[in-house]
Amino acid sequence: MKKHNFSAGPCILPQEVLKKASDAVLNFNGIDLSLIEISHRSKEFVEVMENARGLVKELLDLPEGYSVLFLQGGASLEFLMAPYNLLKVDGKSAYMDTGAWSSKAIKEAKLLGEVDVFASSKDKGFNYIPKNYTLPTDVDYVHVTSNNTIYGTQLKEFPKTDSLLVCDMSSDIFSRQLDFSQFDLIYAGAQKNMGPAGTTLVVVKDAVLGKTGRTIPAMLDYQVHISKDSMFNTPAVFPVYVSMLTLQWLKDLGGISEIEKINKAKADLLYVEIDRNPLFKGFAEKNDRSLMNVTFSLTDESYKEAFDKIWNADGISGIKGHRSVGGYRASIYNAMPIESIQILVNAMQQLEKQ
Ligand SMILES: Cc1ncc(COP(=O)(O)O)c(C=O)c1O
Repeated sequence: MKKHNFSAGPCILPQEVLKKASDAVLNFNGIDLSLIEISHRSKEFVEVMENARGLVKELLDLPEGYSVLFLQGGASLEFLMAPYNLLKVDGKSAYMDTGAWSSKAIKEAKLLGEVDVFASSKDKGFNYIPKNYTLPTDVDYVHVTSNNTIYGTQLKEFPKTDSLLVCDMSSDIFSRQLDFSQFDLIYAGAQKNMGPAGTTLVVVKDAVLGKTGRTIPAMLDYQVHISKDSMFNTPAVFPVYVSMLTLQWLKDLGGISEIEKINKAKADLLYVEIDRNPLFKGFAEKNDRSLMNVTFSLTDESYKEAFDKIWNADGISGIKGHRSVGGYRASIYNAMPIESIQILVNAMQQLEKQ
């Protein structure tokens, strides 16, 4: 049965990428060896790493002066690496608190220095993005989470600051056009719009590094990883390879400007139905709705069993909401075809007819 995978991450990847990736596990580029049994220093893999890094720069349209790294430890380790690399000894950072992931980032930053939480949407269960905040000016960097995977909210405007700007883009990188050069540091776990879990993309402006005055353990030091071309230790070869394939898929499709149009059409289809169908209501405030994670619930919980039966029968998977929000969450990342969203919309309409 065809499955429609709405999982929040790890999540859907393009079929052609999965096919190429599985071929490479058996016989990589016709060399009669598996991708995962060759040296990461081999000519073949070094080429993969270089291609992947080049594609990131090209797709994000980064100016000179940025380094691209594929690290490990997930976005969760970046919660610590960001302050290690950007926060001065005795320095202060500023965080926008838009949910569980930013709260975790704040907790790590507090290990290294003072944190000013300049805005939070905790008062309403994180169903909106704070606005009209006053940004502190005495901080080394400002940290935001561009897309809140759990709550289905997304930043449309980024803080304008003279401090460094850091962004956790784990769940919406490569999904919409932004001026990526406004950020000094971007990080994202691969397992949403890029590849399998196991590698983390880091994009960092070289000029901001090496200024903290603190001793940084080698594995946490961006400058160490940059000096070794992202091969200070053995990189996650398979996740990096699959990420490269996905980035190539995106480039062939027309890049971020094209996927953004598709993503808008996909999200529109679902949000229009949530707003139209009296049996459903959205979780996030309308202006802050995410193009990637659509959170909604039934207006009458007694229909839950009937609705769950319908979507299960249609091959829909992964739409159970996060335990802290409840209801449903349809994650509609880059690789999700609009046809699958139509199946979900049909299921919602079928419930209404019943
Ligand atoms: C926005 C955001 N930040 C951080 C993380 C944590 O990522 P990881 O599991 O790669 O550490 C997630 C995971 O879902 C996320 O959605």
